[in-house]
Amino acid sequence: MTQAERTKLPWFLSWRALLILWLPIALVTFFHYFTGAKHHWLHDIFRRLYYIPIVLGAFQFGLKGSLGASIVASLVYLPHAFTYFFERDPGASIEKILEMLLYNIIALITGVLAEREQKERHRQELIAKQLKETIEEKKLLEEQLIRAGKLKALGELTAGIAHELKNPIASIKGAAEAIADEIAEDSPRRKLVEIQQKELKRLSKTLDQFLGFARPGKFLKRQMDLCDLLHHVVGLMETQAKKKHIQMEATCAVPEASIQGDRDQLMQVLVNLIINAMDVMPDGGDVRIDLHGEELGNKGYWVIDITDSGPGIPEDLRERIFDFFFSTKENGTGLGLPISLNIVDGHGGFIRVNDGPDGQHTRISVHIPCH
Ligand SMILES: Nc1ncnc2c1ncn2[C@@H]1O[C@H](COP(=O)(O)OP(=O)(O)O)[C@@H](O)[C@H]1O
Ligand SMILES: [Mg+2]
Repeated sequence: MTQAERTKLPWFLSWRALLILWLPIALVTFFHYFTGAKHHWLHDIFRRLYYIPIVLGAFQFGLKGSLGASIVASLVYLPHAFTYFFERDPGASIEKILEMLLYNIIALITGVLAEREQKERHRQELIAKQLKETIEEKKLLEEQLIRAGKLKALGELTAGIAHELKNPIASIKGAAEAIADEIAEDSPRRKLVEIQQKELKRLSKTLDQFLGFARPGKFLKRQMDLCDLLHHVVGLMETQAKKKHIQMEATCAVPEASIQGDRDQLMQVLVNLIINAMDVMPDGGDVRIDLHGEELGNKGYWVIDITDSGPGIPEDLRERIFDFFFSTKENGTGLGLPISLNIVDGHGGFIRVNDGPDGQHTRISVHIPCH
């Protein structure tokens, strides 16, 4: 129980009860008692004015409110109606008894109806909330499906091209090696052949990467801790960040965030995202990496937020940055984000792009399901 709950007054002592129940009853009673018996019609009105706090009590507090008001109204009316200590209500006795009975019957009926209405309202609110959650989940799923579809098509295309290029490149590599053997060590052509070999090696490595990317289910998943990975990656990138005058800070809201995952691949994701953040701050800035748990729909996720103090991503580019070869950098490959997305997707997760907490800058949130 919180401090506020402990010090909370019971309903009948609240300001609302005072204003809509006790004050109106007190006022009606006051005027009722001090109105002379010769004003028969005024007594008829006052007697009926008690219904107002009774009905209001039902809508504000339910059955207890209406019954509380009707019992108090009956009690305060009773001496005025039947005793000789006061100037008596000029109404007929049977009429007054019926009136008091009616106070309580009306209280019972309005109280029950108001509570039923309140329950129905709560039910509707709950349904609306569930509906909102379901719609949100559906939207999320749609987003994931669209991206996964795009990834699959592009993955297949790149894998096809890479596969087609692999064999000719292997032949060229073999031929280049044979030619290299025939060129003397001190020949000026030797340098050219070395360049040729180096570039061919780079080409075949890139092709391997593309092929690897398109191959689904190649993840080596083991029990691992995301907090541990996060600190490891930050440790790796610290020197590079310092050189660029970038302040890096990592926090884990939980002591341990255990998942079944491919540590090397997820490390690549974090490195890609941190490098992207550093790239947009050539004059230095801040990169924060925070891990916390979050519930979305009915699923639990570990969320890693990478927040930079860079210029932000324009709204119209947010969908395109996950496209293959999309880059706004002079020497960018445009592969960092699609590859990261593919890895996160392979872990059942997704990536979201948001503004930073101040509405500027960028926050990339990686969601990985908890097990
Ligand atoms: N933190 C960020 N702030 C601003 N723009 C970003 C950020 N991260 C990614 N981008 C944009 O997304 C593009 C694609 O990123 P990526 O796929 O990693 O390719 P690359 O880094 O080679 O350009 C970047 O060129 C950049 O325009
Ligand atoms: Mg990049």
